[in-house]
Formats: sequence, structure tokens, C-alpha cells
Amino acid sequence: MNELVQTSKNGEIGILTVNNPPVNALSPGVPDGIVAGLAQFENDPTVKAIILIGGGRTFIAGADIKEFGKITSGENRRGPGFLSVLDRMESYPKPIVAAIHGTALGGGLETAMACHYRVAVASAQVGQPEVKLGIIPGAAGTQRLPRLAGVAKAVEMCAAGDPIGAAEAFKVGIVDQIIEGDLLQGAIAFATSKIGTPPRRTRDLSNKLGNEQSNTPIFAAARDAARKKARNLMAPLAAIDAVEAATKLPYDEGVKREQELFLECLYSDQSKAMIHVFFGEREVAKIPGIGKDTQQIPVNKAAVVGAGTMGGGIAMVFANAGIPVLLKETDQAALDRGLATIKKNYANSVKKGRFTQESMDQRLGRITPTLTYDGFGEVDMVIEAVFEGMALKKQIFGELDKVMRQGAILASNTSTLNIDEIASATKRPEWVIGTHFFSPANVMRLLEIVRGKASSKEVIATLMSLSKKLAKVGVLVGNCRGFVGNRMFGPYRREAQFLVEEGATVEAVDKALYDYGMAMGPLATGDLAGLDVGWRIRKEFKDAENTSVRQPKVEDRLCEMGRYGQKTGAGWYKYDENRRPMHDPEVDKLIDQIRKETGRTPREIGDQEIVDRIIYSLVNEGARILEEGFALRAVDIDIIYINGYGYPAYRGGPMWYADTVGLKKVYERIQEFEKAHGALWTPAPLLRQLAESGKKFADFDKQVAATA
Ligand code: 3HC
Ligand code: NAI
Repeated sequence: MNELVQTSKNGEIGILTVNNPPVNALSPGVPDGIVAGLAQFENDPTVKAIILIGGGRTFIAGADIKEFGKITSGENRRGPGFLSVLDRMESYPKPIVAAIHGTALGGGLETAMACHYRVAVASAQVGQPEVKLGIIPGAAGTQRLPRLAGVAKAVEMCAAGDPIGAAEAFKVGIVDQIIEGDLLQGAIAFATSKIGTPPRRTRDLSNKLGNEQSNTPIFAAARDAARKKARNLMAPLAAIDAVEAATKLPYDEGVKREQELFLECLYSDQSKAMIHVFFGEREVAKIPGIGKDTQQIPVNKAAVVGAGTMGGGIAMVFANAGIPVLLKETDQAALDRGLATIKKNYANSVKKGRFTQESMDQRLGRITPTLTYDGFGEVDMVIEAVFEGMALKKQIFGELDKVMRQGAILASNTSTLNIDEIASATKRPEWVIGTHFFSPANVMRLLEIVRGKASSKEVIATLMSLSKKLAKVGVLVGNCRGFVGNRMFGPYRREAQFLVEEGATVEAVDKALYDYGMAMGPLATGDLAGLDVGWRIRKEFKDAENTSVRQPKVEDRLCEMGRYGQKTGAGWYKYDENRRPMHDPEVDKLIDQIRKETGRTPREIGDQEIVDRIIYSLVNEGARILEEGFALRAVDIDIIYINGYGYPAYRGGPMWYADTVGLKKVYERIQEFEKAHGALWTPAPLLRQLAESGKKFADFDKQVAATA
């Protein structure tokens, strides 16, 4: 035993309690503690059965993910350790019962499956989420789970990684009993009923393993789904292979096959990137100067001004999180339109089985439509989402300053405007902040939290934790034009256009980026978002434009032709009634014409150049943003791109990707682009500095963490 695993006794039952807060990960010491506890109880004749339970808020949430980096970097060696601990448990002479609350995930579920029985409270969840980290279960999960839950369920859980609730786990045979009331007492009663019975070993079960005929279509369908839903990812396919091995090989050989596949995944770039994303999503919540002691403002009631595309979605986000929200419009027609869209979106979710009609009614019940500011004095926070225009935003903030109570948060969803100028319309700029949701707001996980120069620590701290409650990943960004995500998106889409003007086809540009892993190509993305949005902004900021550098031409011309993208049935592509994109010779003609006007002779452009130009434009702008302090860390940029722009998590985000290529190589390539294409490609000084000193963006982040 050690301080991570405690033993106690209740009559004839020995209790092992894992205490490794916050989530009882299987960090070094935990397996040893379990083994020591088992040894103690084995020698104690008064103990007839054992319970393994988690202290604190959960059972075991899995292997300690921090250890994986140490293994792949060679800092630690991975011993055979944990598998043999589980074998020891399974072959233990007295019945062992896992008592589950919170989550039994990954190695946690694998530990529970090596016990002879499992009981759980109704709110517990179990799962094999390893694929979300780019790996597969590595402690016999792929071998034991099909023996308990059947092949189809095991394949689904291991390949998709989503956890299931206790009720379902009971139904499929993972859990033997649901405990009402106190978990430990229920587990003691269950364990007592097993005293004297021979332990039931999962490895010995075979009646759910099916046969070749029944299993073949299951594996084929799973592989098809994995190739579609987890495009380019190796772990889901490896997980399916491992479960298949369970159906074809004796248990010990199946475990060996799982180990080979597990290690292949663990050492892959994909898994390193996805582990970076796992910790990154938690790191972004840590803001230097803001700690647990920073006071937060409870947000129990909210209001939204503007029930258009964004305002309606934002109201849904609050309603979904159980927070009542007022939704204000200028006239009844606009309000009705906004509410009709909200109802349609909710009804779609009910149709797809995401939640029940009753839940939809509850959510809708939390949204109170209004045409006045009545009730705004009682809410804790307001988000303004009216048309994008400084004069209107300032007018609204002036009004909000009058109606909102002191101590309430005033937020703007602006995507381009200066948050300090908006705040200047109030007498309380320290209570003003930007909350940049992404469209559709009720779907996209990203929330850029824009810090104004006066925004108070309390307001920032509140928004950081509120974003988690709203099921968003909140990332703090500075107040520059486009903030972080859209500022980088400018060069990204600019290069896509330049490549077309230089000779690449529209389809080639989109395909190269899609194959790289982006959810969509950059030109198709423009069509989806609406080409007119950028066109209008460019017109508004025409005076600020730097006329000495090259400007892309095609999109403005497409807009002049009324081709705004999907919404007008044509943009870079033309669209059929199902919004399927098709090649359009009209666009070829336009591009030819622009090439002639600008004196450009089209040239062959390979996929590698397309990817380098477009992705490195993100990296170079990202480096500038970092050195200017508009993003705190490189990982913040990665998390923004993965959650807001369809960047593939398995590449870790643009800054992580640049680190994996090597900053020296990236820097040299950018220098080549500068030579060929001019000042738009001047390397960011931070990139040069890191490249020349053999460092990575990750080193920049380490320095930030050290000085925080
Ligand atoms: N290892 C190391 N640290 C972990 C961890 C793990 N498995 N799970 C969570 N943590 C850390 C987080 O980094 C965070 O640290 P921080 O406070 O310093 O930022 C802290 O624990 C709390 O985590 P969350 O903020 O995520 O807490 P929540 O309550 O929101 O969520 C959770 C809890 C659902 C357990 C969530 O943390 C989670 O999903 N964890 C990962 C679970 C997982 O993937 N398990 C499988 C691991 S791989 C494995 O087991 C391989 C095996 O097959 C051999
Ligand atoms: P929208 O045009 O769909 O909706 C704006 C709504 O505000 C309209 O319904 C209008 O009637 C209402 N409105 C105007 N004046 C009002 C007032 N005085 N009081 C109450 N309601 C008023 O616009 P959208 O797209 O929802 O954009 C809103 C804000 O969100 C803008 O600042 C925009 O820049 C930002 N944004 C938009 C994104 C998008 O993809 N559409 C993404 C992120 C931010």
C-alpha cells in the first residue's frame, strides 16, 4: 500500500480505495498500491471478498496521460507492469468487485473488467476513449470488452471512443448491478452475495465472441464508418483490428496483438498531436495572473440582444446549459423569425434523437423573447449580437449601460470591431468583454474571449469558467483586428486565391487541403460562409489597405457577379439544389481573365506547394500574433484552429504541426516564398528567432508557463 491506494475492512469485505486526485489516473504508484493491497487481503483469512473503489469524484479515469510523453521521448520505459497487475487481479482467488461512480475510462474500465464483477451508480459512465488520444486500449480492453459486451458494442466503443451510461452498460453486460443509494454499501451487499463463489474471470468468457459469419459484417461496417468519420486516423482502424483479434485468437495472443497495435499508435505523430490537444484544451483555461482565488460573477440569468444568425444560436447555448435567457429584437417580425429558427434547430435535434421533445420544451421555456429592455436589470450578463457596425454597437452599449445592474457583464459578439471603442460607450469598461462565438453558435465549440484593455480579471475569470459550463472551449485572445482566428484566416484564404491566380485549379487547392486533413478546402469554406462577408469588410476597410502588396482578385469579382457562395447557388463552385458543389466553367473564364489582366502565366503547382503555402501562412501570422501578445501561447492558437476552423486534431494545430516539421525548415520555406512573392511573406521575427536558435513553439509556451 501507499498513500495512493488505501485499504480498509468492513466485516468480511476488504476495501481498496484509489486516492489520486483529481481523477484517480493510474499514475506510477497506483498499480503498486493495488497489488500491495491485494497481497495484504490475500493473507488475511477474515477477508472473503474485495471491493475496488475510487475516492473523491470518480472511479479511475484511465492511464496517466502525462506518462505517455515520457515513454515516447525515452524519459521513462514502459514496463510490462500494468497488464500483469490486471492478470493478478483476474486470477485472484477471492471475488473482486469494482464499484464505479463518475467515470471508468480507458485503463479505468480495463481495471474494472479485470475484476470479477462490476457495480455502478446510475450516473456513472464507462468507456474506452483512447482513440481520442490517437491510441487504442493498451491494457487488454479490446480483448475483455467483447467478452463482456459482445463484438458489435466493443467495436463501437473502442473505435469511436464515446462513453456509455451505466444503464446501457448494465444492458450490454459490462455492469452487473446498478446501485441505488450509497455505492459502497450497495457494493458491500453485492460482494457479500459472491462470497464462496468461484471468481468469474472475464478472459474465460466466450459466449459473446460470435463467429466468423456474424462478425465479418460488423468489422466491415465499422471500418467503413471509421474511414468516413475519422478520415486519415490510424487509431480507430487499429482498435477494430485489435477487437477482431479477440474473436480470432486465444486470449493471450489477442493481448499480444493489441500490444503491438497500441505501441504503433502510441509512437505515431498522430497520438503525440492528439495528446497535445488534450492537455492544450485544459491549458488554455490557465491565465497568468488569474487564479483560483480570483472572484467570479455567478451567471444564473442572461440576455442576448439581436435574434439573428448568431444571437439565436447564443440564446440556445445558454438555454442548453440550463441558464434562462432574455432574447431582444427590434420588431416582432425579426423576433418571430429568430424564434422560428431556434424551434426548427431544436426540432431537428429531436428528430435526430439527440434529446427528447420534453427536453426541447424545457430548453425553449428558458428563452424569453422580448422587444424591450424590461428584465435586463436582473440578469448577470448580456451578449450583444446585432449587425456589425460601430455606431450601432456603441448605441446599444450606451443603452445597456443604463439598464444593466452594476456588477453585470456586458459582452459583444463582434467579429471585427475594436472592443475598447465599444466599451468606451459605457461608464464601466472594466465590465465589458468580447465573446466571439463561431457560426453556428450552438454547434461550434470555440469561443474566443476578447480581452479589452480595461476588462477586469473577475470578468475574464468568469468567462473562462462559464465557457466550460456552456460546453465551449474558451480561449483568451487580445483585441486586434480579426482577433486570433480570423486574423490568421485572412492570409490562409488569401494564399488559396493566389494559388488559383498562379495556375492551380479551384478543385486542386481544395483537395490538397482536404487531403491534408482540413474539414473542407479553403475555397469551399468561403462559399459556405458567404464570400460577401469578407467583400463587405474589405470595402469598409478600403482606406486601411496596404496598396503596395499584392491583393487577391477573384473573390471580389465573384461577388460583383452576385456569386456569394452557397446561399446564391454559386461562388467558387456552382451548387445544385442539394448544395452539392460542381465545377463551373464560368469561374475558369473569370480566372483566365484575371491572369491576363495581371500578366500572370499559369504554371503547374503541386500539392506540396499548395499545402506549404496555405498552412505556413497560418504559422507565420500565428507567430506574429504570439510575439505581439494577442495570443498567450502557441497551443492557444492550435486549440482555436482545431475547434473553430476544422483543422485536424491529429496534426495538433498549425503551430504544433510547424514544430513537427521543424521550425528551421518552415522558416527556410517561408524565406523562399518571400523571395518569390514579396513582402506578404516576410518571416515573423519570432519564427526567425526560434528557428535560428533550434527551438520550437513548444519552448515558447514553456517559457510562458515558467513566468506565469
Ligand atoms: N491522465 C492525466 N491527467 C488527467 C487525466 C488522465 N487520464 N484525465 C484528466 N486529467 C487531468 C486534466 O489534465 C486536468 O488537469 P489540470 O486541472 O491540471 O488541467 C484534471 O485532470 C481535471 O481534468 P478535467 O478538467 O478534464 O476534468 P473534468 O471533470 O472536466 O473531466 C474526465 C474528467 C471526464 C475524466 C476528463 O478529464 C477525461 O476525459 N480525461 C481523460 C480520460 C481518458 O482519456 N482516459 C483514457 C486514458 S488512456 C488509457 O487509459 C490507456 C490505457 O488503455 C492503457
Ligand atoms: P444577423 O444580421 O443575422 O442578425 C443581427 C440581428 O440583430 C438582426 O436580427 C437584427 O434585427 C438585430 N438587431 C439590429 N439592431 C438591433 C437592436 N437595436 N436591438 C435588437 N436587435 C437588433 O447578424 P449575425 O450574423 O447574427 O451577426 C451578429 C453579430 O455577430 C455581428 O457583430 C457579427 O459580426 C458577429 N458574428 C457573426 C458571425 C457569423 O458567422 N454570422 C460569426 C461571429 C460573429
